[in-house]
Amino acid sequence: MEINLSTKLKENDLFYKCYAFTRADEVKRMGLYPYFHPIEENEGPVVQIDGRKIIMAGSNNYLGLTAHPKVKEAAIKAIQKYGTGCSGSRYLTGTLDLHIQLEERLAKFLNYEACLLFSTGFQTNLGVISTLVQKGDYVISDKENHASIVAGCLLAKGGYAEFLRYRHSDFEDLDRVLSSLPEDVNKLVVTDGVFSVTGEVVELPPLLEIAKKYNARVLVDDAHAIGVIGPGGKGTAHYWNCVEDTDLTMSTFSKTFAALGGFVCGPERVVNYLKHHSPAIIFSASPTPASCAAALAALDILEECPELVEKLRKNADKMRKGFKDLGFNIVENESAIVPVIVGDVEKAFIFWRKLFDNGVFVNAFIPPGVPPNMSMMRTSYMATHEDEHLEKILEVFAKVGKELGII
Ligand SMILES: Cc1ncc(COP(=O)(O)O)c(C=O)c1O
Repeated sequence: MEINLSTKLKENDLFYKCYAFTRADEVKRMGLYPYFHPIEENEGPVVQIDGRKIIMAGSNNYLGLTAHPKVKEAAIKAIQKYGTGCSGSRYLTGTLDLHIQLEERLAKFLNYEACLLFSTGFQTNLGVISTLVQKGDYVISDKENHASIVAGCLLAKGGYAEFLRYRHSDFEDLDRVLSSLPEDVNKLVVTDGVFSVTGEVVELPPLLEIAKKYNARVLVDDAHAIGVIGPGGKGTAHYWNCVEDTDLTMSTFSKTFAALGGFVCGPERVVNYLKHHSPAIIFSASPTPASCAAALAALDILEECPELVEKLRKNADKMRKGFKDLGFNIVENESAIVPVIVGDVEKAFIFWRKLFDNGVFVNAFIPPGVPPNMSMMRTSYMATHEDEHLEKILEVFAKVGKELGII
């Protein structure tokens, strides 16, 4: 696409930057564009793209439950009973008995007093952080936290709260930041439970200890942790056995729970406050009946079949070992995310394309999402990947890694 900026738009036009942004078009022209590929069919570990069957090694469908017959059936039945949407916010006409059931089940599952559903996980972080952290309060966030946490912190800042950050998983730095604040201000420390890019599990006990020392509350984002780590897949606070000290845990239905939506668990009084004050609840339609029913069915399966969590762990462990044995540089962790470092951006796009052509779909992560020269093939696994899928992924990585001189 040829764009003549000089004749079309002036730099002081709001849209100038949109017309000047041609990087994605260039990568598309080179045939290397790794994003927005439409999936035509999805069985979980195998998807169809451009008429070809491809092994999916980049989904967050951790237990593979989007394809589970019980989950699908629950969603279909919910549509038959309640229709396709709620057409209102939880506050007004959008509360179903399904929402209440799901909130009660999630609170019980994670050992909290109460739970509140939001329409997405992104919206949960926006709604929780900006509603709790008000004018004059402080929110302190890990530098590698998910974009939705950053968005929540910025929204709080727009309401005249203070937004500070500490170096990634550096609790001395967290201590330094907290010790520099006035003693009598309200504080919230926010961290990913499993960091979404690197898959590392946060070391929660020292974080909680420091937060307690400075009288700060703690919110953990367990989007990539529930169904993945901790006994029975109960996430980060359970993994470290410190749920009683973890004030709030939020998560999403878009990963293990095989649907769309988000939730936060915490003390009943806090959940009640959020329910009556969070614009993200009051002014946004509630999660659809199909999503709630699918998430409830997924929770049933998670509770009834802890062996799925074990299978997921085994699959991810097998891949970590497999990549290392082949000579790849990976980020070590205990989650279902296995990042394989390939280097610069160009190499990442070529690597991605070659994997795709050889029947493997992963996520290409490039700067600014990752540090310079740390572009990665972010792979992630499902409990429903079989050995044949995993071996094929390793075989293709080995072939492409050798071709590009990475191993
Ligand atoms: C760590 C983390 N938090 C929150 C979210 C947002 O969840 P959702 O997809 O439900 O908006 C995501 C999803 O990408 C995530 O990775």
